[in-house]
Amino acid sequence: MRTKVGIVGGGPAGLMLSHLLHLRGIEAVVLEARSRAELESEIRAGVLEQNTADLLAETGVGERMKREGAIHHGIELRFGGRGHRIDFEDLVGRAITVYGQHEVVKDLIRTRLDAGGEIHFGAEVVDMKNVDSENPSITFRKDGENHELSCDFIAGCDGGRGACRPAVPEGAFTSYERTYPFGWFGILVEGPPSTRELIYNLHERGFALVSTRSPEIQRLYFQCDPSDDTGNWFDDRIWEEMHTRLDTEEWTLTEGNIIQKSIVHMRSFVCEPMRYGRLFLAGDAAHIVPPTGAKGMNLAISDVRALTEALAEFYESGKKNLLENYSETCLKRVWAVSRFSWWMTGMLHRFDGDDAFRHKMQLAELDYVVGSRAASTTLAENYTGLKYRESG
Ligand code: DHB
Repeated sequence: MRTKVGIVGGGPAGLMLSHLLHLRGIEAVVLEARSRAELESEIRAGVLEQNTADLLAETGVGERMKREGAIHHGIELRFGGRGHRIDFEDLVGRAITVYGQHEVVKDLIRTRLDAGGEIHFGAEVVDMKNVDSENPSITFRKDGENHELSCDFIAGCDGGRGACRPAVPEGAFTSYERTYPFGWFGILVEGPPSTRELIYNLHERGFALVSTRSPEIQRLYFQCDPSDDTGNWFDDRIWEEMHTRLDTEEWTLTEGNIIQKSIVHMRSFVCEPMRYGRLFLAGDAAHIVPPTGAKGMNLAISDVRALTEALAEFYESGKKNLLENYSETCLKRVWAVSRFSWWMTGMLHRFDGDDAFRHKMQLAELDYVVGSRAASTTLAENYTGLKYRESG
């Protein structure tokens, strides 16, 4: 089997890359270890930056998003029992779209398959050869048989626990990491939303977030011990915790039927460079952000946008400039977004051992962010997505 670009991983990064390459006339094959049903039902974040929503729309995969996604022009920061709106429209003239990541995955899979794209589900990568040569290849196992895919380039889009990054010789990458001493307890709730826009809340007992998915489904999170177990949390206890952290004199959280519970672990991670020979890493395979601000998928999409430009330049003109610069181009944005996610996380969570002084500092910072137009603009600019630079 032969193709130009062998894409390992069928999440948003891998699927969007195959879609963008197809639009530039470059053939690719996607290998995904999980089944289509598993991929399409994985619940992740649901906030699309303006950049991401625009790119999906411009490249013809945004029809359902435009119909079913909700455009939000602001968020609320709540602390000290009071809410303060950050008005994105007024501050930066941009917005976000609330639309689940798995809905983007469904749209991309359907678009690729309708266009005759090749996606192998249940295809597990067992080996990669000659990654540092011009003729790399991938061995994958599907239905109990091994197959070989020869290609010009490999795109490692297989997430934080995938096969691509570990396949590279030790010492080729440097990694930078921060583990946070808390997790997010996430619930999906059937019932009407409590709020029109997202609420990011800091309380003495920790962070809480009120988000939405659709007019019938709410998505709620609260900061928890990362080693906690969802089994320890009966519904009544969850609602009590959420009310304690969120309710104000004028507002109370609307309860509903909890249909899913999970604990999200929180980590910042960056691998440098994002390339080894002809293997190019994109998305979670190269970097992880904590969920605060919902940047993971948005960053993955900006990586594959840059990778598409680089591969298109190579196939159209034989030039390798953008390929050579891929890692440096992406890492600028990766570090900028890692900083924003880390900053939001630090500002909005209680850390073990935090004393009263640190809590006062957090409140002072939040007060500054909502009270100063300059500081609100910084948040709005980053939250709705830093504009793409010329080369990525
Ligand atoms: C959601 C997740 C996030 O991490 C966030 O910052 C906002 C919303 C969500 O799942 O809806």
